[in-house]
Amino acid sequence: MCHREVVQQLESELKIPSHKIDTSFVSARSNARHAFLREFAQIALERNLAGDVAECGVYRGEFARLINLHFPTKKLYLFDTFESFAPQDLEREIPEIQKCAQLFANTSVPLVLSKMQHVQNCIVHKGWFPQTTKGLEDERFCFVSLDTDLYEPILAGLEFFYPRLVSGGVILVDDYFDPSFRGAKQAINDFAQKHHVVFVPIGDSSSIVFVKGV
Ligand SMILES: C[S@@+](CC[C@H](N)C(=O)[O-])C[C@H]1O[C@@H](n2cnc3c(N)ncnc32)[C@H](O)[C@@H]1O
Repeated sequence: MCHREVVQQLESELKIPSHKIDTSFVSARSNARHAFLREFAQIALERNLAGDVAECGVYRGEFARLINLHFPTKKLYLFDTFESFAPQDLEREIPEIQKCAQLFANTSVPLVLSKMQHVQNCIVHKGWFPQTTKGLEDERFCFVSLDTDLYEPILAGLEFFYPRLVSGGVILVDDYFDPSFRGAKQAINDFAQKHHVVFVPIGDSSSIVFVKGV
């Protein structure tokens, strides 16, 4: 459950007045991510960037909801098992992460779609990524959010999406600075080294971004 949903519960079920709920500490990071998304969407619009948008690692759709909101004319591809991590991805993770097999199981496709303002733009690819990319080989993207936490799907996501980014397009990858998800940082570093590409932090103390050159 994200902090927006916690606030909703505090207000509706516990009847706590909204002015008594201080979310500034937990919302600082998500606000920075949201600002990045909003401002990049503005640049994409001004530059008339072609290509669609995607999120790999959707969970309950909180960030996907914002992607859909800020790219109202783009198709939004949503990739997730919608059943938490895949066992084959957990094999190479540290024991503490392997214990989290069910961490993201409390979600569903209808729940995610119910949050979308432009639901007609959403195309759900449910199942194990990268198997769920079949048929999308000729797609192009201008914005991709990779938020799958683990080494295998992050590396697979970079390998799939980076060659399909339009010039000026970006891939935002979460958890680079999160010490719990060491696989994320490793996958990003391995990809950057193998393909001689660079990434920079976005200032939310968690994510980095790859920008496609000309
Ligand atoms: C941190 S959550 C995503 C959070 C989400 N971006 C948000 O805004 O709340 C990670 C998600 O990645 C998904 N995931 C991880 N590995 C995957 C894989 N190989 N294929 C499909 N989904 C995967 C999990 O099911 C989980 O829902």
